[in-house]
Amino acid sequence: MEVQRRMVNEKSRILIFGGTGYIGKYTVKASIALGHPTFIYSRPLNAESSPSKIQLFQEFTSMGATFIHGELEYDQIVAAIKKVDIVISTLAYPQVLDQLKIIDAIKVASNIKVRNTFFL
Ligand SMILES: NC(=O)c1ccc[n+]([C@@H]2O[C@H](COP(=O)([O-])OP(=O)(O)OC[C@H]3O[C@@H](n4cnc5c(N)ncnc54)[C@H](OP(=O)(O)O)[C@@H]3O)[C@@H](O)[C@H]2O)c1
Repeated sequence: MEVQRRMVNEKSRILIFGGTGYIGKYTVKASIALGHPTFIYSRPLNAESSPSKIQLFQEFTSMGATFIHGELEYDQIVAAIKKVDIVISTLAYPQVLDQLKIIDAIKVASNIKVRNTFFL
């Protein structure tokens, strides 16, 4: 009970992979609403980015979230994970195996506790 109370009250830096997606956008909004410094790992915007993704980028930035732009490349992922306390992945279904890179990066970064990691 005490542990649960502390987990609710603690403000952790949360990194969300897939935060611009169908499920991820609700995860991002919940994280921000609970007052957690919220980071979104997202592929870079470019000329082919959809208007809805650009709008989400603007909306989440104005809500205080920080975008970390990168491809799903190991070194970039490790660098992002080193900045946070908790990792949540809501990557698209075809990227499920890419999540293995995230798990490896978590091991190398070594600052994330396993209980602070969520994968869908
Ligand atoms: N949708 C549902 O109804 C539903 C229901 C139950 C479970 N799930 C599970 O929840 C998870 C997320 O599903 P979702 O529907 O929310 O996913 P989604 O909207 O299709 O995609 C989530 C995010 O994944 C990133 N992504 C997409 N393609 C990528 C690529 N080629 N390389 C790197 N990143 C890529 C994108 O982020 P960026 O563009 O920002 O990089 C995208 O916003 C999946 O595991 C799914 O099986 C979904």
